[in-house]
Amino acid sequence: MTPPRYFALIPAAGIGARMEADCPKQYVPLAGKPMLRHVLDTFAASQTITHTFAVVGAEDGYIGGILAAAPHLAGRMTVLHNGGATRHQSVLNGLHAMREQVDDGDWVLVHDAARPGLTAALIDKLVQSLCDDAVGGLLAMPIVDTLKRGGTDHRVQATVPRDGLWAAQTPQMFRYGLLRRALEHSAQVTDEAGAIEALGLQPKLVEGSPRNFKVTLPHDVALAELYLKGIE
Ligand code: CTP
Ligand code: MG
Repeated sequence: MTPPRYFALIPAAGIGARMEADCPKQYVPLAGKPMLRHVLDTFAASQTITHTFAVVGAEDGYIGGILAAAPHLAGRMTVLHNGGATRHQSVLNGLHAMREQVDDGDWVLVHDAARPGLTAALIDKLVQSLCDDAVGGLLAMPIVDTLKRGGTDHRVQATVPRDGLWAAQTPQMFRYGLLRRALEHSAQVTDEAGAIEALGLQPKLVEGSPRNFKVTLPHDVALAELYLKGIE
């Protein structure tokens, strides 16, 4: 039996409505490169990753510029122009399109284009933590703040115990066959782990990093640039 390989799948077909930028947020420039380029460069440079697939929208007019500016990515990645209406659908479309090139037992690391702070060291930490795992898992951060449930008028209804609570990050890493089956059979889920959980399985939580936060709002740009400039 050949050892399993590790593939990356990057959903990058959103519009980034909350970012309110002039272009989809995955193409917003950060520290001199579009957000998605940071992610693609990280996976392309990883010795662990066999190949990367990026899912963009059918009408995407920006990805060509990234590829033209980064010839080193050629051969290390494939662009799939089959993004869907939701992140769930984009990931599932990507899994279907890559089926010829992967085996059911290969691992797929699904990573948001909107998390440009991922590093090769975090990829390797995730892979080393899960490579012998029966289920798979995800990077996540233990919650440190006291949690309040807000009601009408922003009045506190309750303090929610934070014991055992984690904030999910990506990559989320599962074997291709299991992940595809889970996403095909789950109703709308916001992450891959949710689909695996719906099968009654328990993904493993692997501690991530603050720098791997999801760039979502306009004020996130400055923080992302601090992290990205810090390692150059
Ligand atoms: N994504 C996708 N296809 C969609 C929606 C989202 O591939 N139909 C991707 C985004 O491009 C992003 C990741 O899923 O890399 C996480 O989604 P999110 O941060 O919510 O990005 P957007 O949906 O683009 O942003 P917003 O929700 O503010 O519109
Ligand atoms: Mg979204």
